[in-house]
Amino acid sequence: MKRIAIVGTQWGDEGKGKIANYFSSHFDWVVRYSGGANAGHTVYVDGIPYVNHLLPSVEPSGHSKAFLGSSMVLDLEQLIEEIKAMERTGPGLASRVYLDPEVFLVLPWHKQEDALLETRTDKPLGTTRRGIGPAYTDKVSRKGLKLYSLFDEQMLSEGLERLYEEKRSRYGEDITGGPVQTHETLLELREELISLGVNFATSLDLSEQLRNDSILFEGAQGVLLDLDFGTYPYVTSSSCLAQVIASSGFSVSELDEVFGVVKAYATRVGTGPFPTEEEGNVSSEIREKGREYGATTGRPRRIGWLDLPALRYACEKSAITSLIMTKVDVLVGIDEIKVCTGYRINGRISDIPASSYDFFKAEPVYNSLPSWKSTGDTSFSRFLEFVERTVGRRIAYISHGPETNQILQRNELSKG
Ligand code: IMP
Repeated sequence: MKRIAIVGTQWGDEGKGKIANYFSSHFDWVVRYSGGANAGHTVYVDGIPYVNHLLPSVEPSGHSKAFLGSSMVLDLEQLIEEIKAMERTGPGLASRVYLDPEVFLVLPWHKQEDALLETRTDKPLGTTRRGIGPAYTDKVSRKGLKLYSLFDEQMLSEGLERLYEEKRSRYGEDITGGPVQTHETLLELREELISLGVNFATSLDLSEQLRNDSILFEGAQGVLLDLDFGTYPYVTSSSCLAQVIASSGFSVSELDEVFGVVKAYATRVGTGPFPTEEEGNVSSEIREKGREYGATTGRPRRIGWLDLPALRYACEKSAITSLIMTKVDVLVGIDEIKVCTGYRINGRISDIPASSYDFFKAEPVYNSLPSWKSTGDTSFSRFLEFVERTVGRRIAYISHGPETNQILQRNELSKG
């Protein structure tokens, strides 16, 4: 496969980082194309967990290069921290990192604003407080600063002055750290990136390489958190669809596969509709077995059953060609496995939501399926077949444990 994309089909946390890591050594490039440090990818290498928020899932001592594309928003301090941590395992990694100068910066004020917006309302969204919403808001309202402004000091100081005045007029003394101090900090971060050996290049600078090399596009969050098609307003502030790869110069029709990653059950962090949410003993059991605590915030994740109407919706919205099912081991030993097959809305049952409004109105219709003891059980194969038939997509791979090598291809199942 020369080009693939990996996208989340639920509310993020489907295990995309691990899947990307499994594939990444076979690709010349791993490209992150959206979101920012709100994402949290836990990747286990030789049993050691690495949590990255911005860096694409490249192996620390592998050969693949990491490109952070222009639709992302970048917190440079966070990025440097991650590069340094990975450099300890894989010296030289920094020289394989490429930043698109077109990306927008997440400034300290954005993080302060995110926290202020969450605390000043009686209906918080439960954001990660990484400044994502405010950074994208400034981008859309044409007040943001791009990475390239770090190389044009006049542009940088004018932009910072303007933004600071605006933030202060809205939030007063709650916004701290003036433009001069922020300017200095940003220049220091720029110098640190340069001395680490990080590269600055747009997708056009790299177009010849990107066209000739193999690429894994690594999505962030999941379709149900997408700004346009997720459970708005309980969403992130960027698009989570595979189609965003257009910002790196590619279209989904140029991909060999768009893999949709789906957990064998569902989770979400933060507020918002969750039709198949389950509370009580079984959800606590799944939370503990699946280590379902936010990689970015440490919050316990809400737990629910696999939601096939939502999965069909995600497949249609994000041009998904095949599925990768993760965390199937977590359901071993759960007596009764429920799967949502339809949404009942005003007495009518549908197998796919027509709009994101349906997520707020849906009453789930369930099928109960027998559980399995291992991936070799016929009840497990039947579960997979049931999902494939209902959603109309093949499950190409199954992940059955946290280690990178705990992945089976569908046709290897008997070895599970
Ligand atoms: P924000 O992206 O920090 O603005 O948060 C908006 C919503 O998206 C909140 O409910 C977050 O918990 C959720 N969110 C953002 N990124 C992720 C992620 O990578 N995994 C799971 N939830 C996320």
